[in-house]
Amino acid sequence: MLRIGVLVSGGGTNLQAIINDIDSGKISNAKIVTVISNRSKAYALERAAKHSINHKFIGRKKYADNDAYNEAIADYLDHMKVDLVVMAGFLVIINNDFVKRFEGRIINIHPSLIPAFSGDGMYGLHVHEAALKRGVQITGATVHYVNEITDGGPIILQKAVSVLKDDTPEVLQARVMHEAEWIILPKAINMIANKSL
Ligand code: GRF
Repeated sequence: MLRIGVLVSGGGTNLQAIINDIDSGKISNAKIVTVISNRSKAYALERAAKHSINHKFIGRKKYADNDAYNEAIADYLDHMKVDLVVMAGFLVIINNDFVKRFEGRIINIHPSLIPAFSGDGMYGLHVHEAALKRGVQITGATVHYVNEITDGGPIILQKAVSVLKDDTPEVLQARVMHEAEWIILPKAINMIANKSL
């Protein structure tokens, strides 16, 4: 049984997609053992609570610096015996020690077809604003392993989504979530859980 730890900062719609697919059996041999957020008010924590999933707010302020903060998150993941770390909209800088500690066991969902619109500063709506500004006709989402380069780890799955004429960043974000993120993140987890990766 793959023990999953999900790191979140926002609404948790990707977390919800994973929960739904575990409940429906679309994801097998996996269990979310904890959800951790850097924001106490993240609705993602509510979603975990509603499904009686262990959840924890770990706030940055308590720690002297980002390295100590990273270590505290890593220690809790180890405490929960997490096998796979899933970053689902986690807006915290992960340091190299963290990446090494969970080498090959951290995945991230990014709302574009990496390498397009990726790297430092490319997160959330900024990604979709850049795609619209560039005038691309196709965008999408990527699940990739996390390494020490932002959005630079090996790509696991991608799914394309059309950009439509009157799209706003918000409308495009919603379509990419619905048509891509919520499909490929659970699919990647199922592949890892069933060793078909
Ligand atoms: C998603 O758009 C994801 O691609 C990005 O952060 C957002 C998280 O949204 N990494 P949610 O918290 O899963 O709703």
